[in-house]
Amino acid sequence: MSLMGILDRVADVATFDKAIEPARRAVQSLPDAVKDALHGTWLGHPLHPVLVQVPVGSWVSAGLLDAVPPLRPAATVLIGTGVAAAVPAALSGAADWSEQGSGVRRLGALHALANTAALGLYVGSLVARGRGRGTLGRVLSYAGLGIATGSAAIGGHMSYAQSSGASHAATAARALSTDWIDLGPLDDLPEGRPALRTGPGAGVDVPLVAVRRGTRVDAFIGACSHLSGPLHEGAVEEVRGHQCLVCPWHGSAFDLDNGEPRRGPAANPQEKLETRMEAGRVMARLPGHQR
Ligand code: FES
Repeated sequence: MSLMGILDRVADVATFDKAIEPARRAVQSLPDAVKDALHGTWLGHPLHPVLVQVPVGSWVSAGLLDAVPPLRPAATVLIGTGVAAAVPAALSGAADWSEQGSGVRRLGALHALANTAALGLYVGSLVARGRGRGTLGRVLSYAGLGIATGSAAIGGHMSYAQSSGASHAATAARALSTDWIDLGPLDDLPEGRPALRTGPGAGVDVPLVAVRRGTRVDAFIGACSHLSGPLHEGAVEEVRGHQCLVCPWHGSAFDLDNGEPRRGPAANPQEKLETRMEAGRVMARLPGHQR
């Protein structure tokens, strides 16, 4: 069985769901502002993959430097850097993990356990090095590197196979026709409430959502960028001073003006369509295409 198949099997194991749930609730109980900072909502990009570069890069580099005796003091500095950077990286990952589906949460729990073990080994390595036990320190750090590498494979599977952190709206947008799409008469759109519309895609209709405010219409891909929640079932609300379209599933709020996330867990923007009126009908298309 391939590595992907093994991880998919693990993602189906529900045995530990009850044990995982308290940790999830604890993360979800953090203040919204803290969670949004950790998600990367302010950045318009998931923060976790940005932060993990530091511990991973530091620890891999330390492994190389440890192989060259005169460079071992520098390896110790890098290991310390990685240990310090692992904490915010773990917190951002935990925030994202707490808002994912069950399969991702199961693998994420395994990912967290492995990373905690690796972090413990690296801390032990620093202690050993500080006490002059260099050989033990190197054994512990290489063991940590091995576990962290395995854990990175799990994290990669969560991103690439389970699409955690990916923009589900961007995926839907790629399937949508680039032509102008007729969303129907302006008068058929309810005032200040999201309405479902569809556009032609590659063999399947792509859900769109339109919000009318007077004569202005803002149109978006209808699948939430976080996990494809149905935005037409959401609401229009003011969030942090911006008129937003709020997802009914996890409460992400997207600025009606530009689709930027104003509240998480979404960190990716919502794909927005440009609109124009034609004989009283609303026309929309993905921006950047000539008529
Ligand atoms: S699907 Fe999670 S906030 Fe929309």
